[in-house]
Amino acid sequence: MTTPSAQPPLALVTGGGRGIGKAIATRLAQDGFEVIVLDRDGAAAEACAADISTATVTSRAAAIDLGDREAVDALVARDRPLAALVNNAGIFDERAFFDLTADDFRRMYEINLVALFALSQAAAARMQPGAKIVNIASRAFLGARNHAHYVASKAAVVGFTRATAMELAPRGILVNAVAPGLIDTPLLAALTPERLKAQLALQPTGKAGRPQDIANAVAFLASPTMDFITGQTLLVDGGKSLGGGLGI
Ligand SMILES: NC(=O)c1ccc[n+]([C@@H]2O[C@H](COP(=O)([O-])OP(=O)(O)OC[C@H]3O[C@@H](n4cnc5c(N)ncnc54)[C@H](O)[C@@H]3O)[C@@H](O)[C@H]2O)c1
Repeated sequence: MTTPSAQPPLALVTGGGRGIGKAIATRLAQDGFEVIVLDRDGAAAEACAADISTATVTSRAAAIDLGDREAVDALVARDRPLAALVNNAGIFDERAFFDLTADDFRRMYEINLVALFALSQAAAARMQPGAKIVNIASRAFLGARNHAHYVASKAAVVGFTRATAMELAPRGILVNAVAPGLIDTPLLAALTPERLKAQLALQPTGKAGRPQDIANAVAFLASPTMDFITGQTLLVDGGKSLGGGLGI
C-alpha cells in the first residue's frame, strides 16, 4: 500500500508577475514551496507560474487586483492555509511635497498598506504555527526626497510589521520585513544615466542590487527552519542605509 505524499508548503507572493516578486516566487519554488503568484497582470502571473513549476510541484497564478477584497478573501479561504505570505506588491510614485494631494496619499496607502493589512489578516486567521509573513518595505522608509507619500507608506509597513509580529507570535506566526535599496528592475530604466550614476554613488557597494538579492533574504525569513526572528526589518541595500562621509 502506498501512502499519499505530503503536500508541499503553500506560499502566496503578491505582485509576483515581474520584478522583485517574480524573483521571490522563483526562489520559493526552488525551495520546495507550491507558489500562488498573485498579480493584477494575469498574463504575467500565468507566465511566472508556468516558469517556476517543477516536475513535482505545480505553482499557479491568481489574476487579482489587491484592491478587490472579495476576490482576495475568496482566494485565501478556498485553499489550504498558507505556510508563507509575501506581501510584495506595491506602487511607487515621484512627486514633490507641494505637488502632493490627499488623494495621492490615499492611493498609495490603499495598496502599500491597507491591501497588505487586509490580506495579512485574512491569511493569518487560517495559518498554522510555524507560518511566516514577509512584508516588502523599502530602504526609503528612512527618508527620501520627492516621495513623502511612498516613504510614509513604507514606514507604515515597518511599524505594521512590528505590531503584527507581537500580536501573531502567540499563534506561532512570525512576521518580518525586507527593505530593498536600489534594485535593478524596470524602474531603473526610467532613470537618466546621470541620475542613476548619482544614486549608485550613494551606496558603499557602488552598484544596484538584483531582484535575487531580495529573494535570498525573503527565502531566509520564510524558511520553515527560521524560528526565532520576528518583527525585524532587514535592509538589503548595498549599505546605503549606513550613511556616508567622514566619521564626524
Ligand atoms: N525596485 C526597487 O528598486 C525597489 C526598491 C525598494 C522597494 N521596492 C518594493 O519592492 C516591491 C516590488 O517592486 P518592483 O520594483 O518589483 O515593482 P514592479 O512595479 O516591477 O512590480 C510590481 C508588481 O506588482 C503588481 N501589482 C501592483 N499593484 C497591484 C495590485 N493592486 N494588485 C495586484 N498586483 C499589483 C504589478 O502588476 C507588478 O507585477 C514593491 O513593494 C516596491 O515598493 C522596490
